[in-house]
Amino acid sequence: MPSVEKILIIDFGSQVTQLIARRVREAGVYSEIHPFNKVTPESLAAFQPKAIILSGGPASVKEIDPPRVPDAVFDLGVPVLGICYGQQAMVEQLGGKVETSEQREFGRAMVDIAGDCALFDGVWEVGAREQVWMSHGDRVDALPGGFHAVGVSEGAPFAAIADDTRRFYGVQFHPEVVHTPDGARLLQNFTHEVAGCGGDWTMASFKDQAIAAARAQVGKGRVICGLSGGVDSSVVAVLLHEAIGDQLVCVFVDTGMMRMGEAEEVVGLFRDHYNIPLVHRNAADLFIGKLDGISDPEQKRKIIGATFIDVFEEEAENAGGADFLAQGTLYPDVIESVSFFGGPSVTIKSHHNVGGLPERMNMDLVEPLRELFKDEVRALGRELGLPDSFVGRHPFPGPGLAIRLPGGITAEKLDILRKADAIYLEEIRSTGLYDEIWQAFAVLLPVQTVGVMGDARTYDFVCALRAVNSTDGMTADFYPFDMDFIGRVANRIINEVNGINRVVYDITSKPPGTIEWE
Ligand code: XMP
Repeated sequence: MPSVEKILIIDFGSQVTQLIARRVREAGVYSEIHPFNKVTPESLAAFQPKAIILSGGPASVKEIDPPRVPDAVFDLGVPVLGICYGQQAMVEQLGGKVETSEQREFGRAMVDIAGDCALFDGVWEVGAREQVWMSHGDRVDALPGGFHAVGVSEGAPFAAIADDTRRFYGVQFHPEVVHTPDGARLLQNFTHEVAGCGGDWTMASFKDQAIAAARAQVGKGRVICGLSGGVDSSVVAVLLHEAIGDQLVCVFVDTGMMRMGEAEEVVGLFRDHYNIPLVHRNAADLFIGKLDGISDPEQKRKIIGATFIDVFEEEAENAGGADFLAQGTLYPDVIESVSFFGGPSVTIKSHHNVGGLPERMNMDLVEPLRELFKDEVRALGRELGLPDSFVGRHPFPGPGLAIRLPGGITAEKLDILRKADAIYLEEIRSTGLYDEIWQAFAVLLPVQTVGVMGDARTYDFVCALRAVNSTDGMTADFYPFDMDFIGRVANRIINEVNGINRVVYDITSKPPGTIEWE
């Protein structure tokens, strides 16, 4: 995308580097994160950044062979903002001094504004005391030539530094986190006032670029796209259809683990609303058959993943084959984060996707959402005219209801679960809570309990209700419904769904729980 104004974020491994990219994009400027050890003079020249931001990170410039800012960064003539470790590395490399401080600062801190600089214009005034968020042990002790201190905190005499001539700035605190309340405005100053970006990057411009890029990549080839009914794959399909029309074939594999009405909704949207050709394969019996007698969660996930690939491959061949596979990969999945501590992380759950297919079918990948965050995908969906009801859908896992049925899976149990889940979601929608909740669903437990209905004894299953708030699915809190609401839903489920006589509400956060039960 050569014509777009871009900010390059060089990553030194901070936990919050992605937030820098978010804040910059929220300011209407396109940005990308590149790991420090992959930035070369050639990649810089090709990227043509309007400015560069150096992230924080866990390293210390005092260690042997610390991560370095590529020298070419300072010779490019563009503004540079160093954050935390980024500031320290910049100072050390430009001739200043960094020391390991006696006084470490973690969490909220106050900064006294000691000087003017373009970064603070219209946001912070000299003499003011402002709240920021710090996380550092080392601190800058002597400035390189050309810099002056513009902010001082208790633990850092150079909490903010500026060289307005070269347009180099450094902050010891983290402007990208919400605990630095004015942080977003400082980053906007950096990108707009200092770097001169227009702030006119919008989803509409991204859409046009993404369409052009897909056309250029695919040429006259054929693309196959697996639709799950989720937001990401739907957005990919609609975008690619706009880009390449009938060169796109969409395949919807109904695993039999979908929610009530889901398959009809997906088919209706794509075939009727968008007129996008869609292969609809009903493979419910196949999936349920393969899962017969299986109750281990990991085994379930693996069987579903493998069966999905088999069916998808079959349908792809029936549809005449393809040169490319379209995937809804998002930015958080592709950022090559810098790991200082090494080692693969523990697998909590084997996520279901179509990994392995491209090699088996000899296809290249088309991933138009690679640069977007989840909420940006939703904005792009709206830009493409996807109905709000689709764009705002709660996430739904690839293995579907199979992982909401602990224990063995049968068609009857799936049916009971689907009915309970539909009632729960209907109540959430009619109460106006749907958009406030990250994800809500019912789980059918493999436990029967005694109840009494009318004058008769019942011995039926327990249904657990789950609803969580989250921003990214990585951590979550249970949603605090009021008791009247939960009571109403429980009553309806017990009265309307044969096979359930008890309802419980899950009040576990993540961690230590996960969002799904398996
Ligand atoms: P957990 O249960 O790990 O889930 O806390 C976090 C988020 O990921 C969703 N999830 C999946 N999504 N394939 C998916 O596409 C999967 O296999 C899968 N497993 C969990 C889950 O619904 C939640 O939003």
